[in-house]
Amino acid sequence: MLGKDLLGLRRLGVEEITEILDTAAHFRAVSERRIKKVPTLRGRTVVTLFFENSTRTRMSFDLAAKRLSADTLGFSASTSSTKKGETLMDTARNIDAMKPDAIIIRHPCSGAPHMLARAFPWTVINAGDGINEHPSQALLDMLTMRDHLGDLAGRTVAIVGDVYHSRVARSNIFGLRKLGASVVLAGPGTMCRPELEQLGVRVRHRIDDVLEEADVVMMLRIQRERLEPGAMSTAREYSRFYGLDLARLRQARPGILVMHPGPINRGVELSPEVADGSQSVIMEQVTNGVAVRMALLYLLLGGDPLPAGADHAVA
Ligand code: NCD
Repeated sequence: MLGKDLLGLRRLGVEEITEILDTAAHFRAVSERRIKKVPTLRGRTVVTLFFENSTRTRMSFDLAAKRLSADTLGFSASTSSTKKGETLMDTARNIDAMKPDAIIIRHPCSGAPHMLARAFPWTVINAGDGINEHPSQALLDMLTMRDHLGDLAGRTVAIVGDVYHSRVARSNIFGLRKLGASVVLAGPGTMCRPELEQLGVRVRHRIDDVLEEADVVMMLRIQRERLEPGAMSTAREYSRFYGLDLARLRQARPGILVMHPGPINRGVELSPEVADGSQSVIMEQVTNGVAVRMALLYLLLGGDPLPAGADHAVA
């Protein structure tokens, strides 16, 4: 059973992760219909509160809430009173006074969602906090892997690139390890530091060292906005050592799944042929994102009961 909030995967159990993934698999059917809406969260209010840029995550949460018939309201820092100096707590107090049921927050400071979750009675979903966690992204990644590989226990997932600054990587590491998968990292020393081994993963430096053994390779964008000056040379050099192109993919384990949370920097971490190639499941990740977020809203906001094993149950 999930509690009031979803702040990360660090403290979630295997049962909870499995429940979310199973529920998401049910909700997928709704998005395949002509009328993509069920009445599950009618009359509930979901607010998206984004203090950092986002396309996919915000649209995905917004669509998920709308497909469950919730009322949605968007707040973006670039057009709001934050620009006039209002603090996060004051913004949250004002939203609280309008009686929301759930807030989905993205913020550059690690821990911002945790602060709101402690201070307010409504559900808080972390849509990315600094370099800490991005749990809904990792859940949609795990659902996509499960679709192709079945049980993830004993599988190996390679995460390549700017792991240190990646909340996507952190949430995946926590979640995948709980499901019994092993995680191996590769990236330049400034972005893939040895202390990451404390999270229970192996750290390598050459991408070729991890491709041979991995069932899945997850490529990450360089988080330029979070890098210290001088932490990276040129995009061209990065791409030569850590980019995934067709020649490298040929050295990988046959059938390896290629994933990326987006946004992709084409020609840097992924060549266009690989990003759009037959082993890429990047668009499936996006489709699964809506289903995972529907499942999260449903489980956290306590929608009508969902009988097990029946797609029509959500109608
Ligand atoms: C990621 C993020 O914001 O952490 N994007 C996403 O949510 N799909 C990864 C990134 O920005 O590189």
